[in-house]
Amino acid sequence: MKIAVVGATGATGRRVVKHALAQGHFVTAVARHPERLASADRLSLVRGDVLSLAGLTGALDGVEAVISCIGPEKNLSPGKLMSVGVANILAECKRANVRRFIMQSGIGLSDGRELSWLSRFVVRISGRIFTAAVTDKAVAERMTQETDMEWVIVRPVALQDKPAKGHYTAGPLARVAVLVPLSFDDCADCLLRAATDKPSWIGKIVNVGS
Ligand SMILES: NC(=O)c1ccc[n+]([C@@H]2O[C@H](COP(=O)([O-])OP(=O)(O)OC[C@H]3O[C@@H](n4cnc5c(N)ncnc54)[C@H](OP(=O)(O)O)[C@@H]3O)[C@@H](O)[C@H]2O)c1
Repeated sequence: MKIAVVGATGATGRRVVKHALAQGHFVTAVARHPERLASADRLSLVRGDVLSLAGLTGALDGVEAVISCIGPEKNLSPGKLMSVGVANILAECKRANVRRFIMQSGIGLSDGRELSWLSRFVVRISGRIFTAAVTDKAVAERMTQETDMEWVIVRPVALQDKPAKGHYTAGPLARVAVLVPLSFDDCADCLLRAATDKPSWIGKIVNVGS
């Protein structure tokens, strides 16, 4: 498949690019500083800032699925990166006739009803601390849900740079353990499955964790 990863230089984005190439896909890596990625067969590097729609024009041409791994540097002052950035990505997806859009969100957007009481408590407390980030991401999730493309929103628990387990819990309303971090690699695998497989996830919010 032809897949674009937006935010390809981030901790998750890099892993998504790596896994997609290893699985034989053609990958377009969109980033503010694409020169930070090593070149590879089947990899196109494209410069793009999601805060500028004009700057994204043409970046997604010929792509079948787009995975957004963008995120703000600071969760306490996230600005409008997610709401403006995802709006611009969606607009460019529409122009380029992209079929599927995957948004990496976070478990902090859950209302907690599918979680254990402890996980629900943690999500509520972190929502109070990171209110601005949750609010910005909620707008981005809503826009994703309103698109007429195939979409999947993936909400990971906290992510860590640790070896992939290769097995994890993922699915709509999956009861994930919020206090057990997931590896970036397992999260990347889940995002890729959402983009290339998993018809039952289309139009759904997928939790991923342990
Ligand atoms: N890390 C976690 O524990 C965790 C857990 C749950 C959910 N999440 C969410 O998952 C997403 C990815 O997380 P992550 O840890 O992989 O994030 P990250 O390492 O901070 O990467 C974020 C990416 O977004 C890019 N970006 C920021 N502003 C941009 C802009 N204006 N235009 C284009 N790209 C831009 C960054 O580009 P540069 O390289 O140029 O800065 C970077 O590639 C975020 O939304 C995060 O909130 C993360």
